[in-house]
Amino acid sequence: MSEKKVVVSGIRATGRLHLGNYLGALRNFARLSQDDDYETYFFVADWHTLTTKRDTKDNFLNDMVLDYLAAGVDPKKSALYLQSSVPQTAELFWYLSCLTPKGDLERVPTFKDKVRLQPKNVNAGLLNYPVLMAADILGPRAELVPVGKDQLPHLEMTAELARRFNYLHGKTFPEPRAMDDRPITVPGLDGTGKMGKSENNTINLEDPPDVVMQKLRTAVTDPARVRRNDPGNPEVCNIFKLHTLVSSPEEINTCAEGCRTAAMGCVECKKILAKNINNLLEPFQQRRRELVDKPDVVVEVLRSGNVRAKERISRTVAEVRQKLGIITI
Ligand code: TRP
Repeated sequence: MSEKKVVVSGIRATGRLHLGNYLGALRNFARLSQDDDYETYFFVADWHTLTTKRDTKDNFLNDMVLDYLAAGVDPKKSALYLQSSVPQTAELFWYLSCLTPKGDLERVPTFKDKVRLQPKNVNAGLLNYPVLMAADILGPRAELVPVGKDQLPHLEMTAELARRFNYLHGKTFPEPRAMDDRPITVPGLDGTGKMGKSENNTINLEDPPDVVMQKLRTAVTDPARVRRNDPGNPEVCNIFKLHTLVSSPEEINTCAEGCRTAAMGCVECKKILAKNINNLLEPFQQRRRELVDKPDVVVEVLRSGNVRAKERISRTVAEVRQKLGIITI
């Protein structure tokens, strides 16, 4: 029997999770955690959060772990942990940062975006963000990383660091790859691109059906389709993109056809989408309500996940120390 493939991924703890996190990450985490072909490590990236927030003294961590569990991540099979509970990752980060050209970091698209978005807080953590991410991935020696499209440049840099380290010090890390050949971007409701907490364009995982429909009603569609009778182009429509992520093939076809011929109006199309989103959210919300009633569940899950992650990552870091000639007395 072949060895299980190691999978690692995390989500930043910047706020309550939304449908974009669910479709782009959580749903896959749950599936992978339940699949015996994989050994999975999923964490809350609370250190990465500090690049844009001053502290993490809110309750997002607890909520995020509940979201992971409600989405179906199996804490018995998967190590669910806090990034900050494994200080060895910070140590590995340092070794990797000394192998990373500063110019490469300055060219990373997410860094350039942040410089534009928060010009008054261009801290070194923002610049080093991809190196910490590389340490997150190489620490458990992951081979596969489920991430959204925007994270691919970081993953590319991680693979490059793995190659560089292996070249200099002998084979130590597998070269990690994206889990999915075609990672998705979940569009926001405002038509500007990705669904994101800071963009205020999200459907939240706790939204009840009437809120989902209310948000969809005002969501941007094909801007050229002004009147009900104008034919539209599903290819440029946000709502249609969301359909492709949650609706059945028949519904996707009916909506695309109805849009192109103007046989179906945007409101009708949005109602079908709302139904499918609610069908996804309903069982999630139900499971989450059950979990909230068990007060110790998060602490127990993290305690065992932290131990498992720390054990594996410490082994890697001990080997790295030895290869670098760091003295451990
Ligand atoms: N940068 C990722 C994001 O914003 C979160 C993250 C941090 C991550 N470390 C990681 C994802 C390691 C995968 C692997 O989505």
